[in-house]
Amino acid sequence: MAPLLVAGIDFGTTYSGWSFSFKHEFELDPTKVATKRWYGDQLVSMKAPTCVLIEPDGETFSAFGFDAETKYTHLVEAEEHDKWYFFKRFKMQLYNKDIKRDMKIEDETGKKLNAQLVFSSSIRFLKDDVLKVIGDRIEGVITSEEISWVLTVPAIWDVGAKQFMREAADMAGISSDKLILALEPEAAAIYCRHIPAKKGEEGSLSTFKTGSKFLVVDAGGGTVDIAVQEVTDNGSMKNIYKASGGDWGGTKVDEAYVKFLERILGMDSIDEFKRSNMEDYMLMIRDFEIKKREVDPQKSDKPVVAIKADKLKVDMDVVRNIFKIQIEAIVDHVSNLLDQSTIVEIGAIVLVGGFNDCPLLQQSFKSKFDDHTIIVPNDADLAVFKGAVIFGHKPELISQRVSIYTNGIEIRVPFIEHVHKESYKIKDEDGKVR
Ligand SMILES: Nc1ncnc2c1ncn2[C@@H]1O[C@H](COP(=O)(O)OP(=O)(O)OP(=O)(O)O)[C@@H](O)[C@H]1O
Ligand SMILES: [Mg+2]
Repeated sequence: MAPLLVAGIDFGTTYSGWSFSFKHEFELDPTKVATKRWYGDQLVSMKAPTCVLIEPDGETFSAFGFDAETKYTHLVEAEEHDKWYFFKRFKMQLYNKDIKRDMKIEDETGKKLNAQLVFSSSIRFLKDDVLKVIGDRIEGVITSEEISWVLTVPAIWDVGAKQFMREAADMAGISSDKLILALEPEAAAIYCRHIPAKKGEEGSLSTFKTGSKFLVVDAGGGTVDIAVQEVTDNGSMKNIYKASGGDWGGTKVDEAYVKFLERILGMDSIDEFKRSNMEDYMLMIRDFEIKKREVDPQKSDKPVVAIKADKLKVDMDVVRNIFKIQIEAIVDHVSNLLDQSTIVEIGAIVLVGGFNDCPLLQQSFKSKFDDHTIIVPNDADLAVFKGAVIFGHKPELISQRVSIYTNGIEIRVPFIEHVHKESYKIKDEDGKVR
């Protein structure tokens, strides 16, 4: 039975959010989903920073998002933060790791906690938050049977990481039979398929015909996740190539900025600054988050780097360099994908994810792939969670998936010691180890 309500959770590296829509709303307009406005001190956003604060007992949830950041900053100010656990941008700790249930992850000060506890307390917060808003909006009750949940995961994550998220969701009170995992670029593509084409606008994904093939590049804070898709006969989409990507997300630009500061001011000074003025260091990083969104590729003002009225002025050419490595990695990867003979006739490239809001990145795509249509939806960073809700109402929109590992023909390969993971080892009927 189709769910009465679908709630989507996009648990991102840097930002997370939720969205939902009722069945009757979805039928009127699939792109219309409810989201929340999260308030930070400088930023109002539809997503909150992915950070969670846990009490010194190592169990009790304290706060999530902007609230967690603020509360932790106060603790730092009062020099009481030592025993608290503050996790920020911790999703990347699952990327390319051999994930075990008892795996531990490190908080900002290097203290370790069980990863599943950290993930599930964050998911529980988002779940309870969305349920509260839903409860306020409707009269009467809605039973958990009538709600379907969609949690998004990067397409390039391996099976272990995806299973880990499923279990964390279960611990958070979302039972597995009510949960669909959606791959982030797939969810984004679903959303883009549903945005109506504007008058006179060319290359909207909604008008793509059967057989059209396109790339979806979801560039978030942590990973850049790429899916190659084709529109099928019934208008749904299928993945025609394995997902690919890398850890070239927007937070790498933040790291490059800190490296740049270390180069001009000395690593010791930055270390010392962090140690003795943690709060100011955090504010500086927050400021950079605002500044990096205001980058104007057209502007150029000399001198190159200078201190003016207590402000660090950095010329556009230097800024370009801070973004350069990540942008080149993304563009090169897409270029290689397009060159592969198995991926033919890609007409369009769809850019989603917050990092794709960056004019420098968009510009690089437009100049490098000028024979392709480049599509960037208005709300590139929200495409994933909006698409997740649409997917929950109509899971048939994705007709088939390609394994991320191989298009091979052998299902069980012979087991090779030290090459294959021990946990995947099985004995076949014929007694051979595979
Ligand atoms: N206008 C902009 N210019 C440059 N970078 C931007 C801009 N807007 C957002 N970003 C960056 O995009 C990143 C966040 O993107 P998004 O919200 O899609 O990430 P996420 O979903 O948290 O990450 P992931 O999908 O990897 O888990 C941040 O690094 C942010 O600084
Ligand atoms: Mg994302």
